[in-house]
Amino acid sequence: MIKLEVRNLVHVFNKQEILRDINFSVEDGEFLSILGPSGCGKTTILRILIGLLRPSSGTVLKDGRDITGLAASKRNMGIVFQNYALFQNMTVLGNVEYALAFQKETHAGSARNRAENIIELVGLTEHKDKKPHKLSGGQQQRVAIARTLAMNPEIILFDEPMSALDAATRLSLRDEIKEIQKKFRSTMIYITHDQEEAFSLSDRIMVMDHGVIHQIDTPENIIQNPADEFVRDFVITNLRMKINSLTRYITSGAGGV
Ligand SMILES: Nc1ncnc2c1ncn2[C@@H]1O[C@H](COP(=O)(O)OP(=O)(O)OP(=O)(O)O)[C@@H](O)[C@H]1O
Ligand SMILES: [Mg+2]
Repeated sequence: MIKLEVRNLVHVFNKQEILRDINFSVEDGEFLSILGPSGCGKTTILRILIGLLRPSSGTVLKDGRDITGLAASKRNMGIVFQNYALFQNMTVLGNVEYALAFQKETHAGSARNRAENIIELVGLTEHKDKKPHKLSGGQQQRVAIARTLAMNPEIILFDEPMSALDAATRLSLRDEIKEIQKKFRSTMIYITHDQEEAFSLSDRIMVMDHGVIHQIDTPENIIQNPADEFVRDFVITNLRMKINSLTRYITSGAGGV
């Protein structure tokens, strides 16, 4: 079943075509990554999907219904940004509970319970009474994810959520995001310029550059049949370089094996 569909999306800014005829769809429960270099239009697509930006032309459909003009607050989509965007004056628990307050069906008593459950799911129970500045970057991002989950969105969008984190934290958070997706069966759209991240997380990857989609396919098919030179260079060459340097790192003994 198609959850979200984008048809003929064009966005012009300062007479520049930032997005040119973007078409894609996301299946219910699918994990789709949008992968492309800086400035290619990833965040612009995300802002259009969540309703923060009206496209110059084109249509966004959710469950087959046109939502192009619908207010962001009515779209039932959650978002996790690079910079966490937490309330600094509230505790971890407070941040997550606050998100629950927006849900009609949650009663005051059960809100606390539900917040605690979600905090446990992201492994932060022992930190739940701390304020965000007492936590590491990875922990703060876990709070942001918990807060988004608490709102029970139909679709969760991530905009480069790991770019401020170190390599080890990225790896563990990556696993957690995958676990969360399995558990909640949520539809996820994950923006990144990290090839490895996209390949390890996604059901399908949308490779784009300069406002154009070059390929949308499974990781396996992209490796086996890159659509063009750009995909070959940006995706495959970079992946190969990363794998080579990792292999050198491991065989040099620096990996502690
Ligand atoms: N509000 C804006 N003001 C000025 N330029 C904008 C604005 N929004 C988008 N752009 C331009 O649109 C293009 C796409 O920007 P966008 O932020 O979508 O790229 P991105 O793929 O998310 O890049 P990054 O990986 O660096 O976050 C860029 O060339 C950017 O300069
Ligand atoms: Mg961006």
